[in-house]
Amino acid sequence: MNKTILITGGAGFIGSHVVREFVNKYPAYRIVNLDALTYAGNLENLKDIEDKPNYTFVKADITDAKHIMEVFQEYKPDGVIHLAAESHVDRSIADPSAFVMTNVIGTVNLLNAAREIWKNDFEGKRFHHVSTDEVYGTLGETGLFTEETAYDPHSPYSASKASSDHFVRAYQDTYGLPVVLTNCSNNYGPNHFPEKLIPLCIHNILNNKPLPIYGDGKFTRDWLFVIDHAKAIDLVFHQGKNGQSYNVGGFNEWQNIDLVKELCKQMDEKLGRPEGTATQLITFVKDRPGHDLRYAIDATKINQELGYKPSVTFEQGLSITIDWFLSNQEWLDNVTSGEYQSYYAKQYN
Ligand code: NAD
Ligand code: TYD
Repeated sequence: MNKTILITGGAGFIGSHVVREFVNKYPAYRIVNLDALTYAGNLENLKDIEDKPNYTFVKADITDAKHIMEVFQEYKPDGVIHLAAESHVDRSIADPSAFVMTNVIGTVNLLNAAREIWKNDFEGKRFHHVSTDEVYGTLGETGLFTEETAYDPHSPYSASKASSDHFVRAYQDTYGLPVVLTNCSNNYGPNHFPEKLIPLCIHNILNNKPLPIYGDGKFTRDWLFVIDHAKAIDLVFHQGKNGQSYNVGGFNEWQNIDLVKELCKQMDEKLGRPEGTATQLITFVKDRPGHDLRYAIDATKINQELGYKPSVTFEQGLSITIDWFLSNQEWLDNVTSGEYQSYYAKQYN
């Protein structure tokens, strides 16, 4: 093994795709997946690669500074790709503290551990922080987020991610830690936890339950297929410049209501139900407080400097995603039992 890469949050939605990409593509790397296995972490996501010789799982909570330091001392990673986070805006509105603990304090604990084991010898070392476009706040009807857009977070989630981004940059500026950041738009794809819009609607269509649309449904997001995000992380981790941020997007903006209608159409087709069956489930509900109107990414920098572009169209990605959920209903049943039920009742009833 010529390098050890520690990936945090590797049992989550995006993290599991990043772990798979690295384990399969780089057999000469040792990939250490560090995850606390919260409600959002699930080792079922990694069944296909768990026996690979270059893969190791470590259960650890990034808020536990002492344990994190021990893990770093034991595995001595050359690179860190940091995805572990509390990631759902609605949960951050209900309980901001968990977001401060994991997203801010947890990130600082990882930065300290990296600094400690790398001393001042940064040759071949890199800390890649995975962040979101939500740190930029909201756009009006026009315009795009660039890497120069000023931070203006509105939700407790985006405020915690913005704070973590600032700490990552501060460690580069103050201690010379070699860092890169990626700020990505909304992901979708296999293994997406059904608290987020797309998998929640897939789950509800399967169960003939209402599809809750916040406010008037005209809120706009840019959607990127999760495997394309994993490929962008690979590219930036290996070829990005130290101290730089790269926006990652799908060139794929949808108003929520149009997106859900498209999803309904594809679901009806795939389930052999008459057209219009699923749209009847659409239900407008109370808006999310502080709801950002529009996110949209200008991905020129990663495109021109690193040659990145998404590999699938939205229609293809959505079709792959629905097919995955239809073939993995046991996964869906498992993750929606237990805690999910009480979360759902509190959020939507
Ligand atoms: P997720 O909620 O699906 O997974 C998060 C993972 O982190 C889980 O495996 C969980 O067990 C783990 N985790 C949470 N708290 C932890 C702790 N204290 N210690 C160790 N592990 C912990 O999240 P996701 O959607 O896969 O997002 C991954 C990263 O990408 C996050 O940093 C998120 O901010 C960022 N991001 C997400 C999106 C998106 O659309 N989902 C878009 C842009 C950026
Ligand atoms: P979400 O998937 O939670 O991602 P984010 O808030 O990080 O963008 O939400 C995507 C959009 O869908 C957002 O505008 C909120 C909206 N939404 C609904 O209308 N209903 C829902 O039940 C959920 C979860 C989200």
